[in-house]
Amino acid sequence: MQADLEKGPPRRTAKPRVILKTPLEQEGMRRAGAFNGQLMDFIRPYVTAGISTARLDALVHDYTLDHGHVPACLNYNGYPKSICTSINNIVCHGIPSEKEILKDGDIVNVDFTTIVDGFYGDSSETFFIGDVSDKARHLVAVTARALLLGIRAAMPGKHLSAIAQAIEPYVKSQGCSVVRQYTGHGIGKAIHEYFNVFHHIAADSDNIMLEPGLTLTIEPMINLGSYHVVTDPVDKWTVRTRDGSLSAQFEHSILITEAGPEVLTLTPSQRASGKMLVVAGIAEEFTL
Ligand code: MF3
Ligand code: CO
Ligand code: CO
Repeated sequence: MQADLEKGPPRRTAKPRVILKTPLEQEGMRRAGAFNGQLMDFIRPYVTAGISTARLDALVHDYTLDHGHVPACLNYNGYPKSICTSINNIVCHGIPSEKEILKDGDIVNVDFTTIVDGFYGDSSETFFIGDVSDKARHLVAVTARALLLGIRAAMPGKHLSAIAQAIEPYVKSQGCSVVRQYTGHGIGKAIHEYFNVFHHIAADSDNIMLEPGLTLTIEPMINLGSYHVVTDPVDKWTVRTRDGSLSAQFEHSILITEAGPEVLTLTPSQRASGKMLVVAGIAEEFTL
């Protein structure tokens, strides 16, 4: 979600009660998240050298329809595809294309959102294509850890800013930067609901209380260089790092419960292994 830094993030003043999901809505969010996770396990083996990003888009699109669900990104504010594929220096919102073929050494984030019976699930992963540089490996590991730290920090009774406070100092300590222009978001019966989830520490962040029943995404975009980004003036979607450095992202949708964060978009393989993330090419266990 874009935070307009000129005007500040969109201010919604709904009382906290209004944005909490009822138990029935929470069940809807679990089903939507589970389907998005199932779709991530489905697409993962296809994300290899030689495939076009348009083919990945078609696979996700068709799988979603075949299961009776709706790709949320397609036609969202005019977005032309069902997924975002963000390669190397692309931060987010890369548009799949027939002409764009994944190649050895690339890193690519695949991000999609689906609607299941009116509820939204949203998640993304960054993949290594073949052999990637040590720098790319470092960035992707830092980004995966950033998501894990953000999720762990999303405890009931804390404020939303606890997420940024867990993420940004760690990312900086690793020589990387946290993108400010795009953020996580509330999620529910719309893809972007009520508030921004900043991953960087900012005085003007929405600072609601994390209460049981709140559903949101955490999706840090981390750059190897500076946090500045530029949007493509031609397609008006593709967001790149201003300095050309690599960028990576992981995203999960979560529900705040009395016991702590519940990851809604766990994939079946993550669920089975008890991991919050499994990053092919990184041995580390991202256990919640
Ligand atoms: N999935 C993206 C997110 O995490 C939203 C993409 S909107 C699109 O918020 F239109 F670019 F697809
Ligand atoms: Co997303
Ligand atoms: Co999102």
